[in-house]
Amino acid sequence: MMSREPEILGPGAMKAEAARGNPLVVVHRRWLGCDVDAGPIWPKTDQDLTYRPPTEADVGPLLAWRNRPEVSRWLLRTHADEDAMRESLRGPADPDDHSFVALLGDAVVGAGYLHVRDGMGQDGETEHARAEALLGWNVSPSHWGRGIGTRVARALLDVAFGELRLHRVTAGCFADNVASWRVMEKAGMRREQHGVQDSWHAQLGWVDGYTYAMLRSEWRAAR
Ligand SMILES: CC(C)(COP(=O)(O)OP(=O)(O)OC[C@H]1O[C@@H](n2cnc3c(N)ncnc32)[C@H](O)[C@@H]1OP(=O)(O)O)[C@@H](O)C(=O)NCCC(=O)NCCS
Repeated sequence: MMSREPEILGPGAMKAEAARGNPLVVVHRRWLGCDVDAGPIWPKTDQDLTYRPPTEADVGPLLAWRNRPEVSRWLLRTHADEDAMRESLRGPADPDDHSFVALLGDAVVGAGYLHVRDGMGQDGETEHARAEALLGWNVSPSHWGRGIGTRVARALLDVAFGELRLHRVTAGCFADNVASWRVMEKAGMRREQHGVQDSWHAQLGWVDGYTYAMLRSEWRAAR
């Protein structure tokens, strides 16, 4: 009988196999760079806050504050209906989505978004595949200014560089969204780009935008 060498799949092929439902493919945790048996990332607790994967039951509580003008003013999607919110909460079904809702007691007071994606890099190499993540956060306005946004950002960074062993994360905001870039700076991220009039705002027209980033090496050095 002819023996067959085991096939080593690159990240792209592995992802395609996983999407096809191949049960022998373990979805990345940075391609075995960390403990694949570590289990789901969320839930986690941080003092009075619990971070857990979103569920269908969170749609209503999140919509109760997510569409308020002071919140949606700074979001790219200015209004989310139930279907859009449900779609944005598909995290547990998407191996690249590690988003969570933040609970204070039973109340959904925030959301953290973490989407793993490819970094930039040359073809034929796999190092940049799934090496980055895009981060985001919202907090219920009735809980603003108590440090929850900063804690959510730190929780996302800890997972991105801890469990997921990513190389780099980025997050963007309108330059006038001071609360969001303050959160990024307090969490240790670095302003990497000031885009002059690079962002369209429904009420303000063309406005400036900021991109912040952090490297795994910077996260480690700050610990
Ligand atoms: C951005 C957001 C998540 C921050 O949440 P939060 O829980 O209030 O954040 P924190 O309490 O950790 O920190 C907010 C910081 O911004 C500062 N801040 C808030 N509004 C400010 C303003 N208008 N001018 C100057 N500083 C401001 C606060 O003083 C605080 O900084 P400090 O601790 O140095 O004083 C929240 O405001 C929010 O959900 N905004 C609407 C949605 C949004 O913008 N999401 C991000 C899209 S990029």
